[in-house]
Amino acid sequence: MKFLFKLTEPFPVKMVKVVVNGVGTIGKRVAEAVKRQEDMELYGISDVSQNGGLRTVLKPEGPLHGTDLYASNRDGKQNLEDQGFHVNAVLEDVADEIDVVVDCTPPGIDAKNKENLYEPNNIKAIFQGGAPKDIAPVAFNADANYEDARGEDYVKVVSCNTTSLSRTLSAVDENFGIDHVVANLVRRGGDIPQDSRGPINSTVPVTDVPSHHGPDVQAVLPDLDIKTLAVKVPVTYGHVHMVNAELEADVDEEDVKQAFRDQPRVSLVKAGHGYDSTGKIHEMMRDLERPRSDMPEAAVWEETVTVEDGTLYWIHMVHQESIVVPDNVDAIRAMFEMEDKEGSISKTDEALNLR
Ligand SMILES: NC(=O)c1ccc[n+]([C@@H]2O[C@H](COP(=O)([O-])OP(=O)(O)OC[C@H]3O[C@@H](n4cnc5c(N)ncnc54)[C@H](OP(=O)(O)O)[C@@H]3O)[C@@H](O)[C@H]2O)c1
Repeated sequence: MKFLFKLTEPFPVKMVKVVVNGVGTIGKRVAEAVKRQEDMELYGISDVSQNGGLRTVLKPEGPLHGTDLYASNRDGKQNLEDQGFHVNAVLEDVADEIDVVVDCTPPGIDAKNKENLYEPNNIKAIFQGGAPKDIAPVAFNADANYEDARGEDYVKVVSCNTTSLSRTLSAVDENFGIDHVVANLVRRGGDIPQDSRGPINSTVPVTDVPSHHGPDVQAVLPDLDIKTLAVKVPVTYGHVHMVNAELEADVDEEDVKQAFRDQPRVSLVKAGHGYDSTGKIHEMMRDLERPRSDMPEAAVWEETVTVEDGTLYWIHMVHQESIVVPDNVDAIRAMFEMEDKEGSISKTDEALNLR
């Protein structure tokens, strides 16, 4: 049975039942994050094959052990069973039980799932950065436009690059006003398990200038004048963005640093403390024993925050595999009108141990 409730009504007795469909880099992290929330239930996970770590996360010592496994379609069920998994059912056969699917499938599959599975079965869905622009009426970032997703049936959580730019730029714009921005993006070549991606010894520019990342940010912050340029480099942990923002008025560097400190999911890190590269931030996450050495916060190098003649400059790092995870959780609360922005962000961050 499906239900909706308004913010003004008492807290719902029945918790939102969530399925994560596509248990790869993003999906396994989102499933774990949902499982850690007290006000929603991870009803199950769903896939079509063992790829992406499904076998590992379901092992007795794995983080999703005991979670019910579903298949996204009938071929997928057969395939998973052939690979030795117990599959509870095909998703459409339990559609009445599910309130929302967080779709973390590869680009192209998401739109097919919407057409063949979510729309016909009246299931709300959240899509990821690689999904087509028009898959949902709202391009979502919790810090920048939480309220836009309130009550929506379909929401797209924007990409890792767009999430970090939306978080940092919305903090600056809300506090000081931005006239226009130029951001230069140095993007990782692939995630750790993506052994077929590259480059392996080159820096590859995106020759469309400006790159698509600027319009992607404008899907979240439509009034922001932003242009982006991008290259791809042979690393696996983290994108790096170099940002120039022309401000509407002159501001003090300290005030900008404070605005970043006050913004949830933005961390100021000091190169002078030894965190002077993406590799060393990765090591910090390992030493802190963060799960998978994930860093869902955008990491702004404090020393780079500089204001000169009305232009604000800074450099930040984006851990591509984890930065969108908390926003997926917030998108669920917004769609089901469970919390306001601050309430949702603080619940998510507390459950995930984020700053
Ligand atoms: N990776 C990142 O850094 C990152 C960051 C932000 C946003 N995103 C976005 O997140 C989305 C997912 O990316 P990802 O990197 O997590 O991909 P991924 O690691 O390839 O995971 C996708 C998973 O979905 C499975 N799958 C394929 N077809 C399916 C179907 N019909 N039903 C259910 N599951 C299916 C895949 O199985 P097979 O391997 O067998 O196909 C795989 O396990 C994309 O839109 C991407 O752009 C990725």
